[in-house]
Amino acid sequence: MTGFSADWLALREPYDLRARNPAVLDAVVASLAGNNQIRIVDLACGTGSTMRALAPRFPAAQNWRLADNDLSLLARASGMARPLRVTVTTTPIDLNHDLEAALDGPVDLVTTSALLDLVSEAWLDRLAVETLARGIPLYAALSYDGRIEIAPSHQRDAAIIAAVNKHQRGNKGFGPALGPEAAKACIARFEQLGCSVVHGASDWAAGPTEREFQIEIFSGWASAARDTGDLPLPDIVEWLTFRRDQVAAGRSSLRVGHVDIFARPTGTR
Ligand SMILES: C[S@@+](CC[C@H](N)C(=O)[O-])C[C@H]1O[C@@H](n2cnc3c(N)ncnc32)[C@H](O)[C@@H]1O
Repeated sequence: MTGFSADWLALREPYDLRARNPAVLDAVVASLAGNNQIRIVDLACGTGSTMRALAPRFPAAQNWRLADNDLSLLARASGMARPLRVTVTTTPIDLNHDLEAALDGPVDLVTTSALLDLVSEAWLDRLAVETLARGIPLYAALSYDGRIEIAPSHQRDAAIIAAVNKHQRGNKGFGPALGPEAAKACIARFEQLGCSVVHGASDWAAGPTEREFQIEIFSGWASAARDTGDLPLPDIVEWLTFRRDQVAAGRSSLRVGHVDIFARPTGTR
């Protein structure tokens, strides 16, 4: 599975759903309680995970504009089951170049998930300016925040995690990525600009029986660590072998820190 493959997005979706912060979700839903119709733009939608998490919570009719630069993911997103009161349009777009175009037209809410850790500080600023200038609230879910707990421990965990966090700061198509700093930066920027911001933890948690998810994550981290060149290859192989053995034996558990954010311009809605 690759970074944004449909298989990986399908594997992570139940963990994302379980992790989404309920207080943040409640704040999003409450903010639009008076609307008979809600127009939502979901940035970097993948196969539409955020729509599936959020749409059932709104009793109102909804139009979701799903935006992504991956045509195959967009095609899957538009083909997936959804409540009758939900209509979907897809927008193939490179959000690094054309964020502003994705936000044009009448929009009541901008959503995104698992995107902010990929973007640069400059792009985050653009997002803040463009949403605030339009008076649109932002629900940004599942930004990785650098916290990782793995049991049982291994002597190389700290070095692998440091390499993963360094890799997270690389360019993912939006300039140098915020990586683990994304949530903090987003909260600070929107608060500075006078928004009311609700945020809370949305950690992934996987127990000993949740083997496939853990194997994918550990394999991805081993690749990321290798890409940094910071650790000798045999050390990475030894670490991954240990991790795979623990997962196979039903002894491994994992928590990965994420943060959900709802930023709402004050006085405009
Ligand atoms: C980690 S996935 C998250 C997908 C979805 N939001 C979810 O939570 O399942 C990141 C998404 O960002 C999209 N993406 C990455 N770079 C992009 C760009 N420059 N323009 C538009 N979408 C982009 C990928 O195609 C992928 O769908």
